[in-house]
Amino acid sequence: MAIDLLLGLQWGDEGKGKIVDVLTKSYDIIARFQGGPNAGHTLEFDNIKHVLHTIPSGIFHPTALNIIGNGVVIDPVIFSNELSKLKEYNIDFNNKLLISKKAHLILPTHRLLDATSEASKGKLKIGSTLKGIGPTYMDKTGRNGIRIGDLLNKEWKEKYNQLTKKHIKMLNFFDVKIEFDLKKLEDEFFRSLVSLKKCKFIDSEEYLSKAQRQGKKILAEGAQGSLLDVDFGTYPYVTSSNTTAAGACVGLGVAPNKIKEVFGVFKAYCTRVGRGPFPTEIEDKYGKIMAKIGNEFGSTTGRARRCGWIDLVALKYSIQINGVTQLMMMKGDVLSGFDKIKICTGYTQNNKKIDFFPYDLNDKNLEPIYFEMDGWDEDISLIKNKNEFPKNFKNYVTFLEKNLNVPIKIVSVGPDRNQTIIMN
Ligand code: GDP
Ligand code: IMO
Ligand code: MG
Repeated sequence: MAIDLLLGLQWGDEGKGKIVDVLTKSYDIIARFQGGPNAGHTLEFDNIKHVLHTIPSGIFHPTALNIIGNGVVIDPVIFSNELSKLKEYNIDFNNKLLISKKAHLILPTHRLLDATSEASKGKLKIGSTLKGIGPTYMDKTGRNGIRIGDLLNKEWKEKYNQLTKKHIKMLNFFDVKIEFDLKKLEDEFFRSLVSLKKCKFIDSEEYLSKAQRQGKKILAEGAQGSLLDVDFGTYPYVTSSNTTAAGACVGLGVAPNKIKEVFGVFKAYCTRVGRGPFPTEIEDKYGKIMAKIGNEFGSTTGRARRCGWIDLVALKYSIQINGVTQLMMMKGDVLSGFDKIKICTGYTQNNKKIDFFPYDLNDKNLEPIYFEMDGWDEDISLIKNKNEFPKNFKNYVTFLEKNLNVPIKIVSVGPDRNQTIIMN
């Protein structure tokens, strides 16, 4: 049985969590493949809003198994808080949540290094979520990291002490100093490990391979977005993992030829949180209006998200790199009431037209080329069927589908599970 894959096509927060939750009824296993608690995946149903950071978005389904793959980095403190919230809803995570022994641990000093590194960059800071993501992946690729499986071995504490000692030396290397109470952070960290260790640790690549042979349906869940990929995103304003389709192969130990559908999730417009280039950003009051209507405030940090028009150059790039086979368009409802809707169909660079995503998106001479369409006034958030789409909204969806050359299979018109239109 093949594996399907779901990921974000922009700069994150496209609505991946909502769609994974909607799709989970068709799957036996949901497996997160990269990132860590820099992610905030929001699910809404029964008038309750849930935000998940490390736990896959299939956790609310009564039977689906949820796996945290080897590509994920886990902060036990945030993770145990997530577990506590699940307990309030009587979610039986002991039997439904499995963690790869090869996933890496975010240590308290990784968070301190992230904060110090960002502070030392001044104006050039990345705008990281300060969750310790960069330093943890640095230790992973530098072959110094501590893995979940290490916790089963008594000697891991020795490794922890050595690594922490090294991190403290590294903190002293920076000119900028931040205040911290390591003892307090460590107390919290070790306390949280007790909850973490109640979960089952598995060889997830083996588990998933067996599940495939048994005909189980598996959905891989991505975090962040393709334009935050460490290789293909707007470097250096990116995260530290591969958020693109290939990241699912390494982040779960799945062979490329086992991946079938690739679901690409995108917003009907575009947002970005943190710093970095954003050619279609709306810098006048309409950007703020869009943010207000779309409630564009980070699920993890609460920061205001920058808003802009949809960028087809960027979307085509993401579709190509990921091999997207089906699209899911989110938050179309947010655009109701805009007189005109702009769609970026290309860029000019030094007055020359380009239709690809360039190496340097930060280039001051890069300008988006817009196609303008009439907007729609109707509230579409209660629509249940595509036949009820207002004419101009339908035109918008059709224009995007035609230009992106991939079918739009789901149109989401509100945050709730039920505000989801399947386009058949
Ligand atoms: P993720 O990180 O990709 O899972 O996305 P986030 O949860 O960070 O951000 C998406 C936000 O949009 C959340 O607050 C969702 O509840 C909300 N949302 C998702 N789909 C829709 C939609 O179609 N319309 C509206 N208005 N909100 C949506
Ligand atoms: P989800 O899964 C939006 C951004 C940060 C920053 C950059 C690097 O909810 O879509 P990091 O903490 O990873 O070192 O930050 O990446 N970023 C996200 N933006 N959604 C996310 O996740 C993000 N995860 C990281 O704002 O610009
Ligand atoms: Mg998010």
